[in-house]
Amino acid sequence: MDAIARKPRRILLVGGGGREHALAVRLAGEPGVAALVALPGSDAIAGVPGVSVVPGDPLDASAVVAAARAARVDFAVIGPEAPLAAGVADALVAAGIPTFGPTAAAARIESSKAFCHAIADAAGVRMARAGAFAAPGPALAFAAELSAGGRGIVVKADGLAAGKGVTVCDTLDEAGLAVGAIFVGARAEAADAPRVVVEERLRGPEASVIVLADETATLALPAARDHKRLGDGDAGPNTGGMGAYSPLPDLPDADVARIVAAFHVPLLAELARRGTPLRGALFAGLILTADGPVLLECNARFGDPEAQVMLPRLATPLAPLLLAAAQGRLAAAASDAGIVGFLLPATPDAAVGIVLAAAGYPDAPRVGDAVAGLPEAEAGGGLVFHAGTAHDAAGTWRVRGGRVVTVVGRGPDLAAARAAAERAADAVTFAGLQRRHDIAAGTGV
Ligand code: AMP
Ligand code: GLY
Repeated sequence: MDAIARKPRRILLVGGGGREHALAVRLAGEPGVAALVALPGSDAIAGVPGVSVVPGDPLDASAVVAAARAARVDFAVIGPEAPLAAGVADALVAAGIPTFGPTAAAARIESSKAFCHAIADAAGVRMARAGAFAAPGPALAFAAELSAGGRGIVVKADGLAAGKGVTVCDTLDEAGLAVGAIFVGARAEAADAPRVVVEERLRGPEASVIVLADETATLALPAARDHKRLGDGDAGPNTGGMGAYSPLPDLPDADVARIVAAFHVPLLAELARRGTPLRGALFAGLILTADGPVLLECNARFGDPEAQVMLPRLATPLAPLLLAAAQGRLAAAASDAGIVGFLLPATPDAAVGIVLAAAGYPDAPRVGDAVAGLPEAEAGGGLVFHAGTAHDAAGTWRVRGGRVVTVVGRGPDLAAARAAAERAADAVTFAGLQRRHDIAAGTGV
């Protein structure tokens, strides 16, 4: 036996959303994985073969460590950003449990947009022109300067906002209102005083390029595109993401590899240079401008709903690679798996995911509505990943959160995958359901 385990047998998965449902399905179905325990998981995750759930607060590091010990896991995977920022990975690693998901120090690349800009500057990585401010006056002065230079303005709350703290502004007046809204009622001298990032607005299609990383290797999952706005044609407010597809016809593999070399590799090197290497997922949210790709933001985790379309397309076992990244031996594990270069092997097909969201999402999602048609969606070949659902006592699925389910269709190309996803999404009904009908539309398919 090797001194270091190379395949996880018992896995703790922290989280309970759609991305974690997709991770649970993928990991529990892989060879050698005997059990997966999700904290807190969800009713849907509890229904995955080989998976059980334990209650607990995913932000309470000592409770997560206690649950990991009680379940005798040999590996932990953290799905969402909030436990990473709360130091749950640090606590698991300190308890001797290898963990996929960075320390709080490395996860600052997501939890602070200002820190992300600082790392990118130091690494020579191209981001939009931006400034971080602790008071409205200087923020507005910078916005006016961008506006005078003919540039659009984006206003972002500095900190975790589940994709909803961003206002893309058409006018300087709108930017003024967005900055004002962040500072309203705040005292500048308070320890938790807000900070705002004011950024140049970029134009072009977006791309999500996510790598598995440690100090030894950087391996990209298939690229995907999220659709952030609530409505068709990119109308309405920003959300956590209303749908995604993979692959991207306008970002072939060679371009993905170039992006990894130009963005992820230097960012990871800078984090390592500062003594805070990242072991987990590094997600670059990019805009593909006429003048080349530009980094909008980094996340320290898989995307949601990107994971729901990326993970089904992975053509190599994932669990051993996640464990290897956690142990700092990803390069060796990739070479054992016959992987060469920056790209993980992917299936040649396509996947399209449509998010079905609750009435009132993103501002005030209404919970409690009965969800029908999920078996029909699956019977037609759709994959259904639950994000905000719960079973009631009678066994009926009920809406429990803003993004309710992501329905994924697959096919030999994007047109076929899109048709399959639309069919599956059409099968699902609940009162006030909100969804887009243009996910992966206009991709030349
Ligand atoms: P973020 O949380 O920084 O990814 O922003 C959420 C969404 O807002 C992005 O996916 C974009 O759709 C939009 N956005 C953010 N920053 C910019 C920018 N500088 N230019 C144009 N759109 C942006
Ligand atoms: N879908 C974007 C994100 O996960 O942040």
